[in-house]
Formats: sequence, C-alpha cells, structure tokens
Amino acid sequence: MESHNLNKDKYHNNISLEQQKIGHLNAVLNSIREVNRLIVTGKKREPLIKAFCESLVRNRGYHNAWIILIDEYNRVIASAEAGTGRDLNEILKKIETRDFTLCCRNILTHTKEFMVIQNPLEECVNCPVNHMHDGQGSMSARLEHDKKLYGMLTVSVPTVFSRDTEEHELFKDVADDIAFALHSIEVEEKRRQTEAALRETRDKLERRVKERTNELEMLSSKLLNAQEEERKRISGDLHDGIGQCLSAVKFMVETALENMKGKVPDSDLKPLHALVPLLREASEEVRTIVMNLRPSILDDLGILATIGWFCRQFKAVYSYIEVKENIEIEEDIIPDAIKTHIFRILQEAMNNIAKHSKANYVEIFLRKRNNRIELTVKDNGTGFNAQDIMAVKASEKGFGITGMKERTELSGGSFILVSRLNKGTKIRASWAFACMRTIL
Ligand SMILES: Nc1ncnc2c1ncn2[C@@H]1O[C@H](COP(=O)(O)OP(=O)(O)OP(=O)(O)O)[C@@H](O)[C@H]1O
Ligand SMILES: [Mg+2]
Repeated sequence: MESHNLNKDKYHNNISLEQQKIGHLNAVLNSIREVNRLIVTGKKREPLIKAFCESLVRNRGYHNAWIILIDEYNRVIASAEAGTGRDLNEILKKIETRDFTLCCRNILTHTKEFMVIQNPLEECVNCPVNHMHDGQGSMSARLEHDKKLYGMLTVSVPTVFSRDTEEHELFKDVADDIAFALHSIEVEEKRRQTEAALRETRDKLERRVKERTNELEMLSSKLLNAQEEERKRISGDLHDGIGQCLSAVKFMVETALENMKGKVPDSDLKPLHALVPLLREASEEVRTIVMNLRPSILDDLGILATIGWFCRQFKAVYSYIEVKENIEIEEDIIPDAIKTHIFRILQEAMNNIAKHSKANYVEIFLRKRNNRIELTVKDNGTGFNAQDIMAVKASEKGFGITGMKERTELSGGSFILVSRLNKGTKIRASWAFACMRTIL
C-alpha cells in the first residue's frame, strides 16, 4: 500500500514537472519571439541588448539575464542586465582586472561556445552574483557570428531545467539570434560610416572644385584684363609710333615734292609721287589695326558711338550685308565695366557673321529689358548645328563662341546662342543690373 502511494506521488511529481517544463519552455519561446521582433525593429546596440535581457526575464523564461559585449582586446564596451541589478558591475570589474569568473573565463577566453553550471553557489565561489543562484543553474553562451566574438549572454534558470538538452538548444538559438542582431547593427553602422565618409569626400571634392573654379574664373578675368590692357598698349604704341612716323614721312615727301616742283624733271619725281598713296594706305592700315585692337572711341565717346562706328566700318567692308542697329538704351545707364565686353562680343558675333553665315541681313539690339542690359545680334544666314561644333576637337575648335560666353559669364552675365540650319543664328549676352560685377 505504501509503495503504491509512493508510485502515485512519483507519478504526480512527474506530471507536475512535465507541466512546469512545458510552461517554462513556452515562456522561453515567448521570449524568443520577442527577441526576434526586437532584432527586426532595434537599430541601436545598447538599447537593444537591454531590451533583450528584459524580454528574456519578463516572460519568466529566465530569472535573470545579462549580456556583456567586448572588443577584440576583451575590454568591455557595453553591458545590460535584467534581474541582477548592480551586481553585474562586480562582474565587469573582474573582467577589467582579468580576474574572470568561471563562466566569463570559459566563454570569453577559452572559446567555449556554451556552458552550464548546475550549482553556481558551489562551483563559482568568486562569482559576485552566485548568491542569486540558490536553486538555480546558469547557462552562458558566446555571442558570436561569422567567427566574430561580440560578447556573452548568461541567464539563470531553475537547476532542474538547466540539465535539459531541449532547454540548451533553445538557449543557444537565442544567443545566435542576438549575435546575428549585433552583427547586423555592426554592418549597418559600417555602411553608415562608409556613406558618411563618402559624403564627406564628395563634399570636399565639390568644395575643391568650386574653389578651383573660382580661382580659374579669377585667373580668366585677370587674363581678360591683361589682354585688354595689352591691346590698349599696343594700339597706343602703333598709333604714336609707326602711325605718327608714317604721317611724318608722308608729310615730308609731300613737302619735298612741293619744293622740287619745277626744279626737278617730273620723270625723276615719279617714284616719289608713287610713294604718297602707298604711305596713305599704310597710314590707314595702321589706323584700322589700332581701332580694332582697342577703339579709342570707346574710351573717348562711349559704347553707343563705338557701335555706330563699328557698324559703319563693317558696312564699308561687307557692303552686301545690311546691318540694322536698334539701340534702345542710354549711354549713362550702361556701367563702364561692361562696355568693353559689349564691344568685344559684338565684334566677334559680327566677325562670325562675315566669316561663316552667308547672311545678307543682320540686326543688332542693345536695350534694357526686365532689369537687364541685353545685347542681341541675329543674322539670316546658314545657321549651324551647335552639336557639330561641340564635337570638334578642342585643339581645332574656334575660340570665338567660347570666348563670348566666358566673357559674359565672368562679368556676371548670361549668354545664349540659338542657331538653326538655314534659319540663321542669334546670340544674346545679358547682364542683370543687380549682379553686374566690375571686371574690366
Ligand atoms: N553666325 C554664324 N553663322 C553660321 N555659322 C556660325 C556662326 N557663328 C559661328 N558659326 C559656326 O560656329 C563655329 C565656331 O565659331 P567660333 O567663333 O567659336 O570659331 P571660329 O569663328 O571658327 O574661330 P575664331 O572665332 O576662333 O576665329 C564656326 O566655325 C562656324 O562654323
Ligand atoms: Mg569666330
């Protein structure tokens, strides 16, 4: 009878143990579910390991849980716990002084993947948290992914379950999942850092390009300045040197001819007479060169007079091209700084018309529109395909269009060119009053 009762007790004990085990495993599974949900949503390492510990304990799957993360020199870089309170700090101190507890030594320094301590109270005498393990065993696992050790996870669990292999496997799964989450965060962090580094490099590069562009613009505008100054100087020298000299020679030849009239036979004077028109031609040639280099009229009378003079010259040479000037602006409102640009652009546009367009009609507009000063030159010539011009090798390309554009933009304006085959060409350079820069 007594043995029958004993068997009955044993049977009931087994049943309640089985039920407890099922209840416990369910709690652990719930924790795993939560851990997996956290893995998907958690982006930051510290809050995530804290949430892991709390979720492992919250469902009563484990009594307490702690995670220690280390670097490659076994230095603690982060930690979290649930259920151990400040006692975890004692373990951290021990790691710092290399006085490892049993679980820490095995897991962190002996590369053991997993370990169970059935009775920490007796087996781990130097462990600062062993007093929490009365009737509890502990399980520890490496947090490792792709051969990289992130740290360790330890939980305490009733001794009776700490022997169960199913329990071990579930616990190892949890550790693997946490290690994977740490790995993902690290990968994401590295990606962010790489992206930030790339962004910084790109920003630096852009800044450098901007600086260089500014420098080049400065240089170009200095070159334009220097070129204009040089033209002025050469035209002055030609005018005052060769020009004056030729005039003087012509005057002297004419005076000599006058003096020798009737005294020397006409036939002997013939070569001298022939010299006069040649000297006049040379004088005029010098004058034209001087004016093209830098028309003094620009400095003396202004841009409107210069445009008038230039058009007269142009018509005299290219009489088959009708030129209509539409000057709808007053001299005074055009800043001196852009007068030279207006003239040079007009000069190049008209040269192009004469050289390339086969046009017989040209219109020039200089006006104020929408608070901008606008120079427009359009012809009714052959036009051209801008794409074809772009495709020409830089070394073989003309400089005219590029020069007009650069000149306009360097002085704060904007330049457009529109050309269509057999429909003529139009260039427009314009400067806003507000942003005109004094370049020349
Ligand atoms: N008004 C125009 N009509 C027809 N074609 C033109 C006109 N203006 C320019 N072009 C075409 O565009 C090309 C480039 O002109 P651009 O002024 O840049 O150089 P270029 O006149 O050939 O040489 P450069 O101006 O250096 O003496 C010309 O060679 C010509 O084919
Ligand atoms: Mg040209």
